[in-house]
Order: sequence, then structure tokens, then C-alpha cells
Amino acid sequence: MSQDKLKKAAALAALAELETLAPDSFIGVGTGSTVNHFIDALARRGARIRGAVSSSEASSRRLAAHGIPLARLDEVDALPLYVDGADEIDHGFNMIKGGGGALTCEKVVAAAARRFICICDASKWVAALGRFPLPVEVIPMARVQAAREIARLTGGEPHWREGFITDNGHHILDIHGLAIDDPRGLETELNQIAGTVTNGLFARRGADVLLLATATGVQRHERQSFSASNR
Ligand code: 5RP
Repeated sequence: MSQDKLKKAAALAALAELETLAPDSFIGVGTGSTVNHFIDALARRGARIRGAVSSSEASSRRLAAHGIPLARLDEVDALPLYVDGADEIDHGFNMIKGGGGALTCEKVVAAAARRFICICDASKWVAALGRFPLPVEVIPMARVQAAREIARLTGGEPHWREGFITDNGHHILDIHGLAIDDPRGLETELNQIAGTVTNGLFARRGADVLLLATATGVQRHERQSFSASNR
């Protein structure tokens, strides 16, 4: 099965997670090709939600095109769940995100949500994070200085994502060559670098549920039960 078909299967499986929500709920919606399948599926089944808080301009446009109402984060009282993809997810449900450059708003919406549902194909499931270059969003004037500091701190190689500007008007540095053994520690440390907006490690707020599409079907894992059964 192609990677895109697996992404679609994971996205469709996420619809079942909405069944327990009150019909007037808002949900958080992430960014990327897997989430695009989720938005399309949501529209096809008739949204049955009050609206969505989006994590990017791209997702907002797609939601609006389907007629799904958009709300700003400060307009909603609660977000029972957030659905998003990942570039990598490890066995502790820590993730690298931001391949699409929407990491900061994704982190903000994810932080506001009660549950994070990660949807992805099996290629994203890894024993340790770091093969996928870790994105760091920086303000433009800090880019060179922040890159030096990132290299010194991590031993990795920051590459400027040239020509790309985030929805917030910032630049992205992608750190290559990392083997991340302490995602939470590195997430915290990178955020101390002057001029950093945030980084694409989602460890302090990892996923709660993983819907992992494999060639034999979509597996559903909950963080607690998964960690316990793999100790
Ligand atoms: C965007 C993201 C995406 O969730 C991540 O890049 C996965 O994308 P895709 O579903 O296209 O593989 O973090 O900033």
C-alpha cells in the first residue's frame, strides 16, 4: 500500500475518536498531508462538530473550503482533542513535528487540548527520534547566531530552510544529524537559545493516542497502556 493510502487510513480512523464528543465541541486541527485527509473525511461525513481551531493558514483554508467553521483559540472554552500528524514518533509518544513548518501554532493548539491524537503511517514510528531533521523556528535577525548556538549545543548541523517563511513571519533551521536520547531535555534546552520561538520536539506535550496505519490495518495505541506493556 502506498504511503498516501496509509496516511488516509490513519486519518479515517481518527473519525471514530470524535464519536464520544458532545456535538457542540470544537476540535484542534493540525497541518500536513495526513491532516488534509482528516479534514476531507470530516467534511464528507458531515462535520458534527461546532468548529475547528486550526494550526496553520493552509489547514484554515482547507477547512473553510469545506464549510467547516473556524474559531480562534481565544474564542473556545475547551478543546477536548487535537488531531495532527508527525514526522517521527517514538515509543514514549514523543514526536518530531514541523516538517510542514507549522510547529509553533501546532504546539500552541496541542497545549490547549485535553487529548492529542497522532495520525500517521508506519514509516513515522521510530525507536529513537532524530533521523528526521529537527525544525527550530527562529526570528529572522537571530538566525545565524541561533544556528551557531544550536550546533555548539547539540553537535548537529542546522540548515536554514531557505525561502520558507512561517505563518508567524519567522525562519526555520532544520537540525540534521541528531540522535535524541532525551527529547524532553533537548526540547527545553533549545528553547533557551535567544531568538528561538520554539522547536519541533513534542515531548513535554506528547501524543496521548497513536493511530498508526500499517499494511495490515490501523493500530490504536494509548500512551499509558503502551508504555506499561512495553516495560
Ligand atoms: C507540519 C507537521 C506535520 O504534522 C508533519 O510534517 C507530518 O506531515 P505529513 O502528514 O504531511 O507527513 O508537523 O508542521
